[in-house]
Amino acid sequence: MPTLSAKNSLRQAEPYDRSLLSRFLNSSAYTHRHLDWRDALDWLGSQPFWILEKFGEPEAVIACPPDPADTAWIRLFAVSPLTSPAWCWSILFERVLTQVTSLKPVPQLVSLALNDWYEDLLTLNGFTHHQDIVVLSYETQPPPPLEEREGLILRAMQPDDLEAVTRVDNLAFEPIWRLSYTDITRAFDRSSYKTVMELDGELVGYQMSALNGFSAHLSRLAVLPDLQRQRIGYRLVQNALDHYINGHRSWGVTLNTQDNNASSLSLYRKIGFRLTGEHFPVFVYSN
Ligand SMILES: CC(C)(COP(=O)(O)OP(=O)(O)OC[C@H]1O[C@@H](n2cnc3c(N)ncnc32)[C@H](O)[C@@H]1OP(=O)(O)O)[C@@H](O)C(=O)NCCC(=O)NCCS
Repeated sequence: MPTLSAKNSLRQAEPYDRSLLSRFLNSSAYTHRHLDWRDALDWLGSQPFWILEKFGEPEAVIACPPDPADTAWIRLFAVSPLTSPAWCWSILFERVLTQVTSLKPVPQLVSLALNDWYEDLLTLNGFTHHQDIVVLSYETQPPPPLEEREGLILRAMQPDDLEAVTRVDNLAFEPIWRLSYTDITRAFDRSSYKTVMELDGELVGYQMSALNGFSAHLSRLAVLPDLQRQRIGYRLVQNALDHYINGHRSWGVTLNTQDNNASSLSLYRKIGFRLTGEHFPVFVYSN
């Protein structure tokens, strides 16, 4: 069991810590930031979010508030250059575990590993490799649209759709990849092209994407499970490619998916995406 020395103290981070932590993050030596819809410090006010201090100054910080309630991504872990990441992790993560195991539901702790030092820390502390995020890119001419199908309408997503979009998202994705209504709203606000598919008036699929420099990034795609394999996903992706590439808005389109997501990999390959070779491991806490 890790112990605190007399010089150290542990406290929950609060919204008033924003400028303190902002300065700390500018000087921290080891920093893991989740690839998130919001800045790590936007989680201030939600827990678990802990600061380990030495003589009253931050030495390390961890944030992993659950969102949705059953999934807690490690959103931030940062350590000062003057101390050991492993020791800080042991102190902070023990506090996180005590807090999350008292929640109902107990959230699954999950983390991306974007640095070798952080991946080593996860594997030494009860996390196991779950899957890899892979990157695909599209740089050719989009295929033509499919023939129209009766009752099927592709249209722009509206703010009023976001509840139905969250429902489709949560039914389609495995738990750790589901977005809360709040994050669906953030994704909507940050996306420049977002569309939904309606079948006989019911929202059954959606995509959200945005321009990112000279390229576009398709960040979200889902189709209701009962209506998959009916070329709804294909139509949404074909339309987005047409918008960006034939519309001369970008030179190419990128996206991420999971290396074990057979449906999405098969759809993306069929339409002409190619794996770039980049991959980012995802770890789940399994102790
Ligand atoms: C990925 C997803 C959007 C595909 O939507 P979809 O409407 O079922 O896909 P389509 O019917 O348009 O499939 C087009 C082609 O992709 C391939 N494909 C799609 N799903 C497949 C599956 N389960 N197995 C094998 N091939 C598949 C096929 O080649 C298919 O063409 P075909 O039916 O003529 O053989 C859907 O499975 C989904 O919502 N999954 C969960 C969320 C997700 O993983 N999103 C993407 C991750 S970023």
